[in-house]
Amino acid sequence: MEEVIKIRGSRRLNGTVRISGSKNSTVALIPAAVLGSEPVTIYGVPKISDVDALIELLRELGVEVTQPDEETLIIDPRNMEDRPLVSDAVTKLRASYYFMGALLGKYGKVLIRMPGGCNLGKRPIDLHLKGFELLGATVSYPEEHEDCTLLVAPEGGLKGTDIFLDIPSVGATINIMMAAVFAKGRTIIGNAAKEPEIIDIATMLNRMGANIYGMGTDRLVIEGGHPLKGCTHEIIPDRIEAATYLLIAAAMADDMEITNVIPAHLTGILSKLEEIGIKTDHTNDSIHIYGNDPHKVLKPTDIITKPYPGFATDVQQPFTALLTRSGGRSTVTEEIYAARFKHLPELEKMGANAHQEGATGIIVGPTPLHGAVVTATDLRCGAALVIAGLMADGETEIHEIKHIDRGYDNLDGKLRALGADIRREIV
Ligand code: EPZ
Repeated sequence: MEEVIKIRGSRRLNGTVRISGSKNSTVALIPAAVLGSEPVTIYGVPKISDVDALIELLRELGVEVTQPDEETLIIDPRNMEDRPLVSDAVTKLRASYYFMGALLGKYGKVLIRMPGGCNLGKRPIDLHLKGFELLGATVSYPEEHEDCTLLVAPEGGLKGTDIFLDIPSVGATINIMMAAVFAKGRTIIGNAAKEPEIIDIATMLNRMGANIYGMGTDRLVIEGGHPLKGCTHEIIPDRIEAATYLLIAAAMADDMEITNVIPAHLTGILSKLEEIGIKTDHTNDSIHIYGNDPHKVLKPTDIITKPYPGFATDVQQPFTALLTRSGGRSTVTEEIYAARFKHLPELEKMGANAHQEGATGIIVGPTPLHGAVVTATDLRCGAALVIAGLMADGETEIHEIKHIDRGYDNLDGKLRALGADIRREIV
């Protein structure tokens, strides 16, 4: 038995949808919240399964977690204990690796199992480990603990230093930042990632008493050694969820308002939508798609994924579903991940003319889509299939929806409110 999503497509959507808190901020803010000596309250928490997995890990460490309401977490580290993180929960998501930087910093050592996460090809953590070693930690792989990494700070603790990242890795930037907060002296991370989520985590750490500046630039500076307290923090909106609803609106709405967004986080996506013929307007916290004709043939385009503020890799998969409505040959070149095209064969089952040539996906349209039984191979493939299902003629059945539930808060509920015929069923 399996829970699937079923969509009867070709229905016009309209109305207003509110974006939830950023998954990619939340999964770092939760480990960061234990770095201080007092409780941290986080507002705007999305209802996604990655959060449940992280709360399970916090409780394994003796951290008290309460949820006064659906979108608020109170994380109280006052009875927290220094324990190894070796349970299966660690393998449920990639972001469990943030406990490396957090616990190495807080306790001076950590034994942790290797993380899980979406299958997007090889996803090493060499840059994270390089950063920890440069801060003075030793990295080893104890034989008695299979598939685990042991990080130990030197006598006297971690020491601030200059670190240059070969790749502006989001995860490495955040993980090293969390450890560097405890390192004595100044740490400079060169070629740091500039994603809005980095700013969000640094902002909360500064509210806890850290001294971090340069966030959002490629030179991130952490003056370490300041004791951290508690704080309250509101998570930034999820720019990838917002992009997903922009694409849903472009595909199926005449008129849709997307609220609780930061348009400045979406310039790469908005400019591409305008290029293919989608009109949008925005205020400082909402985006409006209007006068759209879901049957209009769109223009083709070429997308190259880049680190922020370039076109976000997480958006190329759902964008591909919309490109089936472009007249001509569009390309999507993936410069961040080696294997992020598993959605193409699934879209082809629905009538798309889409294939991969090396690091580039090629979509030739316009092709009408029809319902089919398809599989979400990863989180954003799932998003692409939902969009295609909304566009398709007939019914689409999506399997492996656990991937979708990792990163989208109440996707089917939000879409039903916009007029979609979408439901979950056990098959
Ligand atoms: C974060 O992953 C996001 N996940 C990803 O979103 C997102 O696609 C990615 O950043 C890029 O924006 C979270 O924030 C939880 P990276 P992360 O380290 O930190 C290579 C989604 O759909 N690399 O910036 O893992 C890596 O293999 C998910 O929400 C190394 O080689 O991404 C990749 O090719 C998917 N060594 C590139 O860098 C390292 O030590 C960028 O990875 C680290 C990364």
